[in-house]
Amino acid sequence: MVPAWLAQNPRATPPLKFGREQRFVVNPDGIAALGEMLKECPRHAPTPLYALPALAERLGVGELRVKDESQRFGFGAFKALGGVIAVYDVLAGAVGQPSFADIMNGKHRQMTSRFVFATASSGNHGRSVAAGAKLFGNRCVIFLPKFTSVDKEAAIRARGAEVIRIDGDYDTAVAECRRQSQAKGWTIISDTSWEGYDAVPRSVMRGYCVLAQEAIEQWGEAPTHVFVQAGVGGLAAAVIGHLWAVLSERPTFIVVEPRSADCWFQSNRAGKPAFASGNADTMMGGLACREISPVTWPVVGLAADWFMTIEENDVLPARHLLAHPAGGDPAIASGPSGCAGLAGLMCVSAEPAAFAALKLGGNARVLLINSEGNLGEPTP
Ligand SMILES: Cc1ncc(COP(=O)(O)O)c(C=O)c1O
Repeated sequence: MVPAWLAQNPRATPPLKFGREQRFVVNPDGIAALGEMLKECPRHAPTPLYALPALAERLGVGELRVKDESQRFGFGAFKALGGVIAVYDVLAGAVGQPSFADIMNGKHRQMTSRFVFATASSGNHGRSVAAGAKLFGNRCVIFLPKFTSVDKEAAIRARGAEVIRIDGDYDTAVAECRRQSQAKGWTIISDTSWEGYDAVPRSVMRGYCVLAQEAIEQWGEAPTHVFVQAGVGGLAAAVIGHLWAVLSERPTFIVVEPRSADCWFQSNRAGKPAFASGNADTMMGGLACREISPVTWPVVGLAADWFMTIEENDVLPARHLLAHPAGGDPAIASGPSGCAGLAGLMCVSAEPAAFAALKLGGNARVLLINSEGNLGEPTP
């Protein structure tokens, strides 16, 4: 019997086909070219994919690789990809698909300067949208929930954005962002979708796909297992969707969430989008979501193989292992949400029934994503 914190997806029964419904969410076409175009941005380079053989041995798996997004854009999180691309997509759509460089250099200023961008964020996505707006010279307003750290707020302000603090959680910040943006004519760059609003979140996920593409190019081999942490599910949809679409053999995908913000775990159980069972009061701020992004359902809801939850006290040991590796593995700085995939793998490897159910072992090649570095939260 698998433990109560691990649940199989009854809908993900092979043979699963990456079809039209999935392609609408995450389209693998043009992702390699997008990676090339990003090179026009200052400070952009692919992030490293580290091999951690000593940790792999300790956890009982054949190979373990960590895609280190703490180094993305010199920015500290994978989110840099989503917000910047989505802001570009809106401006490019308005102007008629010019290059990144042209918009950055103000060639279409007359047309592009009228856009004011807004989003709600627990911190990282807001920084990314702020960075995109700054890159292209637009005004930007970010709605932050109560729990976002002062360091994250400072990092957003440092990118020239205005910040509006909301006396509530992430979902309350989303609602307030929608209300004010509609009243003021601002363009919302949200990483989560809702009824009638999915084009921008799909742009955001298109940006995230770049990291999945880089990982397979860097590894040269396909992973057999991918542990991916989820908030609303945008990262999971991009990683699952892109790898599923481009690899000849589909890896086993395991979605990891904090127990108090288990909206995907509960949605899997319900067979449709459902609320988290807790109040999303978690130190894993990037994952502190009570609702999934509904547009991602055909990828994550239909095709993630397993869903699991982790506890708050699983975080520090995972961060510590990454920061202070044994046996010559590289040291990796991670934040509480960044190390959640590893925390999930550690829980599974400590529980024989879970380990066996996931078919982990000496032949497994496991991919993890360190989705953020330790911005404002020093490594333990
Ligand atoms: C560091 C980090 N990891 C993972 C996630 C989860 O991404 P998503 O909300 O797309 O599931 C977030 C979201 O903000 C994040 O900031």
